[in-house]
Amino acid sequence: MKKIIITGGAGFIGSHVVRRFVTQHPEYHIINLDKLTYAGNLANLKDIEGAPNYEFVKGDIVDAAFIDQLFADKQPDAVIHLAAESHVDRSITNPTEFVMTNVIGTVNLLNAARNLWKGRYDSTRFYHVSTDEVYGTLGEDGMFTEETAYDPHSPYSASKASSDHFVRAYQDTYGMDTVISNCSNNYGSYHFPEKLIPLAIHNIKQMKSIPVYGKGENVRDWLWVEDHARAIELIFHKAKSGATYNIGGHNEWKNIDLIQLLCSILDKKLGRAEGTSAGLITYVTDRAGHDLRYAIDATKLKTELGWVPSITFEEGLEKTVDWYLANQEWLDDVTSGHYQQYYSEQYADR
Ligand code: NAD
Ligand code: DAU
Repeated sequence: MKKIIITGGAGFIGSHVVRRFVTQHPEYHIINLDKLTYAGNLANLKDIEGAPNYEFVKGDIVDAAFIDQLFADKQPDAVIHLAAESHVDRSITNPTEFVMTNVIGTVNLLNAARNLWKGRYDSTRFYHVSTDEVYGTLGEDGMFTEETAYDPHSPYSASKASSDHFVRAYQDTYGMDTVISNCSNNYGSYHFPEKLIPLAIHNIKQMKSIPVYGKGENVRDWLWVEDHARAIELIFHKAKSGATYNIGGHNEWKNIDLIQLLCSILDKKLGRAEGTSAGLITYVTDRAGHDLRYAIDATKLKTELGWVPSITFEEGLEKTVDWYLANQEWLDDVTSGHYQQYYSEQYADR
């Protein structure tokens, strides 16, 4: 049976990728490697935690000795690497943490994979999950393609760009089989409420102010997280060695328009008078180095591998809002910090 280590599987996107692989691929044994930082939560995977082809390992990718031992013990055939510090605002406050996890952590995984797989790179694969933020910012026009030059601006995107370069360097230098995908902004269930969409929903529910950075004119290109997970599954199986794919939903929204839409959807669902939630919008100091606009050209993924998003933004947003309305307990847990203590006690001996 093929063994796959998925890193960051207790996070937002990682939990959707783990669920997809565990449920759609009984032929694989999935090892979810996660440190369970504030962003990692095993409650995201409650529905599949007892599956016979699933295993959780708590561990830090920055700890090279631990990673080497894990690869020696588990003998994985592939890695799908999502573990990262992922929030741009936190990277502005603490860049070093981002270098440690996103750069050093990735290099530790590459080294362990290289040592284990030497001589059989044709039957192994290192898949690195990256972001469109490595390309920097767009003006009013144009889109990011796979050929766009890297031009990261935030410490987060600089760390992800660096990790992408290391992955390519291991392909070019050692002949390792690697694949990279660069995706636009995801949204959906289990999204930590520090990011725009879940933060806005959470605050609207509580009648708390919704912070809009600057004038709210920045544009993001939103993709439903389960469509990202489907794209990763497809690329993992079909991409040629060394390939890169952009993933995006062709779905650009100005932040302020998106927040207004969420306010209006939630007014209806919560039985509030139209305009009530919009009254919570509060313009705050802009993010330092705030990229103006992201837009992904996913033509290569469509023409080469046949991927297109499975649902519209309206459907995805509706599902997402409904999920956050139905899962107040999850929101309370992740915002209280209670889950971290609970789960680290549960998994202390692993
Ligand atoms: P997230 O912050 O929700 O989850 C990150 C996970 O990594 C958490 O479970 C955390 O516990 C784990 N982790 C962090 N540091 C670790 C360490 N040192 N060792 C082991 N595990 C560690 O992130 P996300 O939004 O799900 O993003 C996942 C990946 O996808 C990241 O690599 C991110 O750069 C990339 N990405 C995210 C988006 C997006 O919109 N969220 C878009 C494109 C690409
Ligand atoms: O593009 C992909 C990237 O998308 C991923 O690589 C990152 O991991 C992910 O966090 C996300 O980065 P962004 O910075 O685009 O996402 P965020 O949700 O933090 O912000 C979205 C936009 O909303 C951005 O223009 C900043 C703005 N914003 C954000 C927050 C949290 C606000 O106006 N107010 C807020 O409170």
